[in-house]
Amino acid sequence: MRIDVISLFPEFVAQCAAFGVVGRAGERGLLTMHGWNPRDYAEGNYRRVDERPFGGGPGMVMLIDPLRAAIAAARAADPAPARLIYLSPQGARLDQAKVRELAGHERLILLCGRYEGVDERLIRAEVDEELSIGDYVLSGGELAAAVVVDAVARLQDGALGDAESAVQDSFEDGLLDCPHYTRPVEHELGSVPQVLMSGNHARIAQWRRQQSLGRTWQRRPDLLNEAALSKADRKLLEA
Ligand code: ADE
Repeated sequence: MRIDVISLFPEFVAQCAAFGVVGRAGERGLLTMHGWNPRDYAEGNYRRVDERPFGGGPGMVMLIDPLRAAIAAARAADPAPARLIYLSPQGARLDQAKVRELAGHERLILLCGRYEGVDERLIRAEVDEELSIGDYVLSGGELAAAVVVDAVARLQDGALGDAESAVQDSFEDGLLDCPHYTRPVEHELGSVPQVLMSGNHARIAQWRRQQSLGRTWQRRPDLLNEAALSKADRKLLEA
């Protein structure tokens, strides 16, 4: 998969993608990243990339032309069609289902805004999809782009050591993850639940499912409405 990042700070997103699972995905050639700085496409001595908003008000708005030229350069760098995503608090909320869908694309272009945002005409002309990573305001789209890169990179085939672990993640089945324990069995902070040492895989799976359901019910009851629950799940929830 190829991801192009359009940003005034493209190195920031690249740095976020240099470590751990995402870094390894890069080393294995599962993901390539390219940064494009609209300032490199801006005109004049000052290489302006922003201007004051028409109609007044605080802050600055990113100019159409430097962004458009950076996007055109990114598109031209590879013949594969790219889906262009603009990260902004006005976008639809990113979730794991959307991450899965994005991870299946051969190419993404992530457009990061700064200041008050981007001229609306550029968004209408170029953007396929506007996404938000949550209901709070960041000072730019770069952290949100790094979130998208991380979440889609770990889903690329071969990115994770244990092929199972993406399937067992939180949210893959619409529920929160169960708790995890490792050595030692006895610790001053507590003991590991007995069932996990029983060797009885069916009982362990049932315990984990029950923990997932219980946590989701306690912490994120909103998710239960959307999750596909079986009859057995409903029994576990009532237990
Ligand atoms: N840019 C600023 N805030 C953002 C958010 N919450 N999600 C995505 N992009 C953003």
